Amino acid sequence: MENNVRPASMARITNFDLANAFIDEQVEAVRQQVGDKKVLLALSGGVDSSVVAALLIKAIGKQLVCVHVNHGLMRKDESENVIKVFGQEMDANLIYVDATDRFLDLLKGVSDPESKRKIIGKEFIEVFADEARKLEGVEFLAQGTIYPDILESIKQAEGKKAVKSHHNVGGLPEDLKFSLVEPIKLLFKDEVRVVGEALGLPHAMVYRQPFPGPGLGVRCLGAITRDRLAALREADAILRDEFDKCGLAEKVWQYFVVIPDIKSVGVKDESRYEGWPAIIRAVNTTDAMSATIEEIPYAVLHKITDRITKEVEGINRVLMDLTPKPVGTIEWE
Ligand code: XMP
Repeated sequence: MENNVRPASMARITNFDLANAFIDEQVEAVRQQVGDKKVLLALSGGVDSSVVAALLIKAIGKQLVCVHVNHGLMRKDESENVIKVFGQEMDANLIYVDATDRFLDLLKGVSDPESKRKIIGKEFIEVFADEARKLEGVEFLAQGTIYPDILESIKQAEGKKAVKSHHNVGGLPEDLKFSLVEPIKLLFKDEVRVVGEALGLPHAMVYRQPFPGPGLGVRCLGAITRDRLAALREADAILRDEFDKCGLAEKVWQYFVVIPDIKSVGVKDESRYEGWPAIIRAVNTTDAMSATIEEIPYAVLHKITDRITKEVEGINRVLMDLTPKPVGTIEWE
């Protein structure tokens, strides 16, 4: 990839004037790059891909084909929301692919975090290639790559040990015929949000918490099983619901549940009940390069613990991760 270094002269985008200047520049650059060809976009529904979608709709309209891949690792109701917002409300060219079995079959028994990330990243590209083959005139693949992804990849290229491989940067197969369109690759997360609002995206969408490309796959630690994944999805939905209700959703940058592949002994209905622990992580950051811990009121934690242990099959404990980045990364894998 070229032009992957942010020029020292590039001002931090903190207001609409700077955002609009950036948008105008990128709209022009994208039009120049793609001409009358079609562009495929990996639309996960997260902030990054949503902003890229809005930017590309502005630049090339219906030449943009959005593909939403449900890899079976989405949060609860997430794919349904993508279809509602982009397919119905924004009238985008949207293709929905349910690839749950494809991904989960490939991931079966794989416990190494980097292997999991690589499998998910590679399969993503395969799914897009399959979709592209069904379409005429697609020569480009758009991605919501942002600058922290690039920085970690540069470190890797320089021979330093990468912290983790981000699936939207690496792993493109040799025979891939797409050229990449990555209009926000020099932006930090806070800048992406300003650009999104300047593009007219709803506030809630632009300020929603980020969600990693490999999805719940890197939060269902070790070898993924369908039952533990289902428990994770439910526990995560409860955490999000409670954060919404008490106003923390607006305040905390990223919050989620992790479930390790261990069980402990508990008691339920007067019987031995072995279950997984649900680990809550809630962090604040501006650029995802470092992060601090949000102090959650105990009343909220008690409520969440109560609901998760009562409502989610297979979970018998709730724990809180108090580790800042560094030394812990935000995700566990
Ligand atoms: P870490 O775990 O490296 O995460 O501290 C920093 C931020 O990046 C998100 N993340 C990803 N985003 N593709 C993405 O687009 C990925 O593969 C990926 N992995 C982690 C993570 O959720 C956090 O916000």
